[in-house]
Amino acid sequence: MTPKKIIHLSDLHVRDRGTEFSRALRVFDAVSRYYPGSPVLVTGDLTDSGEPEQMDCARTLLDRLAATNPVLAVPGNHDYAWKGLFHKDKAWQQWVKRLGSPLGWPGQPPWVPWLTVDVPPGVDGLGVWDDPGGELVYFGVDSGDPEDKVNTARGYVSKGLAAGLKRELRKRAGKCRVVMLHHHPFDDGAFMKLVGAERLLDAVRGNCEILLFGHDHHLGLWRGRDGVPIIVASHKTTDEVFEHHLMISIIEVNRDAKGVFSFWHRLELA
Ligand SMILES: [Fe+2]
Ligand SMILES: [Fe+2]
Repeated sequence: MTPKKIIHLSDLHVRDRGTEFSRALRVFDAVSRYYPGSPVLVTGDLTDSGEPEQMDCARTLLDRLAATNPVLAVPGNHDYAWKGLFHKDKAWQQWVKRLGSPLGWPGQPPWVPWLTVDVPPGVDGLGVWDDPGGELVYFGVDSGDPEDKVNTARGYVSKGLAAGLKRELRKRAGKCRVVMLHHHPFDDGAFMKLVGAERLLDAVRGNCEILLFGHDHHLGLWRGRDGVPIIVASHKTTDEVFEHHLMISIIEVNRDAKGVFSFWHRLELA
């Protein structure tokens, strides 16, 4: 296969057209310019408090990026709750309406559901997206818990969601299966531990090539942990690092003549 690059962004925390918006714009413009055509995966907390106006700002950014790059996003606790903590009614519906559609994919219909109810049948909060003509397939997991006021911040993967994920992953054995969610399955903090992390890890073990998430705003890279070749935790994309530079996380996927995948991760300043 032709080597493929995936761009992993997370935790934009857009509030208005201020600091986070302009920093996200800087990153998006760098991706558009230097990595056109590479899929961009955004692992949640696109907004700071899930306000409709914040989602509109985030959508403006994604639409601009989608002119050059295909984009997939999953929601985080800050998209479902005020400051990520206090549950908001209808936030899930707002997300589906404003941010719940893949953008910029070749041949894509105008609007298609992603992470909505009962797609695939019988599983709520799971999106499966095949790269048209490619060897990658993306699985979006909604680890938010919009109807449960307790687990919003920690995240929640139900038995049904984990079982559905495992089943759909196994159907696509042989592809490069990329799973993306917001919550951090290794974080043991009292207010951070993902409810159902064990279920999620059981679903991906041996069934997934790349696992991506965000939420705790720290970079992390694991190879071979929990039976997954490469796992990446993203930093907060709109945080400056090294003076005023922003950072982009990039994963390159290769496949040799014997069909074996290999993965390289690097960070690039923007
Ligand atoms: Fe965040
Ligand atoms: Fe978060």
